[in-house]
Amino acid sequence: MTDKLIIFDTTLRDGEQSPGASMTKDEKLRIARLLERLKVDVIEAGFAASSNGDFECIRSIAGAVKDSTICSLSRANDRDIARSAEALAGANSARIHVFLATSPLHMEKKLRMTPDQVFEQAVSSIRFARNLCGDIEFSAEDGYRSDPDFLCRVFEAVIKEGATTINVPDTVGYAIPELYGDFIKNLRERIPNSDKAIWSVHCHNDLGMAVANSLAGVKIGGARQVECTINGLGERAGNCSLEEVVMAIKTRKDYFGLDVNIDTQHIVAASRMVSQTTGFVVQPNKAVVGANAFAHASGIHQDGVLKARDTYEIMRAEDVGWAANKIVLGKLSGRNAFKQRLQELGVQMESEGEINAAFTRFKELADRKSDIFDEDILALVSDEHAGAQKDSFGFVSLSQHSETGERPHAKVVFTAEGKEVQGESDGNGPVDASLKAIESHVNSGAEMVLYSVNAISGSTESQGEVTVRLQSNGRVVNGVGADPDIVVASAKAYLSALNKLQSKSERVAAQG
Ligand code: KIV
Ligand code: ZN
Repeated sequence: MTDKLIIFDTTLRDGEQSPGASMTKDEKLRIARLLERLKVDVIEAGFAASSNGDFECIRSIAGAVKDSTICSLSRANDRDIARSAEALAGANSARIHVFLATSPLHMEKKLRMTPDQVFEQAVSSIRFARNLCGDIEFSAEDGYRSDPDFLCRVFEAVIKEGATTINVPDTVGYAIPELYGDFIKNLRERIPNSDKAIWSVHCHNDLGMAVANSLAGVKIGGARQVECTINGLGERAGNCSLEEVVMAIKTRKDYFGLDVNIDTQHIVAASRMVSQTTGFVVQPNKAVVGANAFAHASGIHQDGVLKARDTYEIMRAEDVGWAANKIVLGKLSGRNAFKQRLQELGVQMESEGEINAAFTRFKELADRKSDIFDEDILALVSDEHAGAQKDSFGFVSLSQHSETGERPHAKVVFTAEGKEVQGESDGNGPVDASLKAIESHVNSGAEMVLYSVNAISGSTESQGEVTVRLQSNGRVVNGVGADPDIVVASAKAYLSALNKLQSKSERVAAQG
């Protein structure tokens, strides 16, 4: 048994299935490049057959990212598998990930298939996939709620057909660590050819145990691949969090005895990039990447840490990239320093023109804000990429008046399909008035289901980052906007959400 644990990141596939977390091709490419710098072993870049947009994302990631294996998800049918193979054609190292549900509930109610039919489909799909790619993963969806006898039969057969990784998902987050570990151990012991495949865990977080279950699958069950996402992003309560599982394996090497490839110094940058791209804010007390993860408020703790850091700290903040959270640039910084910082943050821009445009925005921001933090740069670059998407709506300017005892009033100028337009409205507060001003012209009728403001770097001098979640005709989208003026940030976030609502991309959900 190898002592290396494979880290399979599915932020761009399972993570993107969170309502409102959908990402553009450029955003996915940027995250994929950072995952490569993080030295993730396998990047699940999407689900090729779910939409043309997803197909193109996988294709461009496969062309650009060379150090990680690039994976595409497929249902267990020839069309999906062929589409994955096509999208992955340019990859240095490619994997096709085939999934099929095996629990009695899913087979009967969702697939309307008998166990024998599921067995046949699993075997024939792996036979087909194996002819197109040497690296094939098979996932038994809702595996943990499946009958172990049936799973043994299916897994033994798909390994015989050439599946190289066997994944046992806890699709609905129902498992308990010890039971999940034993479940995998038992399968591996009973299946005669189990040593011909790498065993993998994929846990959802519905009961808050995705990381604990994954670690038990590794320690007790002998799994050597963990499927996870940055910040634990994912459907419902999310997936196993990459940063937590990696730091647990590293910090408790005495217990796990395993190595991971991950270059942990990029963890915080990856967390911020995913949060800023999707608008899913990281809670301050989140392990490893939360703003308070290394903060000590009580006097006794502060005193202890100053005397000997390991009195209250089990990891070093700089090992996960917190040391990089320093003032990096200001008004006098030049283009080269800006470009280098972008590279350090894992942001690769396609052309000199794109860098120039981002640098101009950086200078504009530096005129209004003395200290520019990494988060500011990432927010600015997100705006830059968003602008490059040829969006329907773009922010131009805003003026608003609010005074105690008066109803606030706002005027917003923005572009709609290339033409400059203006909306005007009153509202309960300046933000409400500004968003109503935009809506007075757009008439989207979308329902706002979430509005949140976050100070990007912790003080009132920092930029405000606003997330607006809109819902319309069954679609949920998140828009993100950043600016030192939170009313402007709100208007930008609202326009960004409207742009996402306008984009036509419809996807087939993996668990659908
Ligand atoms: O949760 C799940 O079962 C999945 C599969 C598609 C692997 O995401
Ligand atoms: Zn999943």
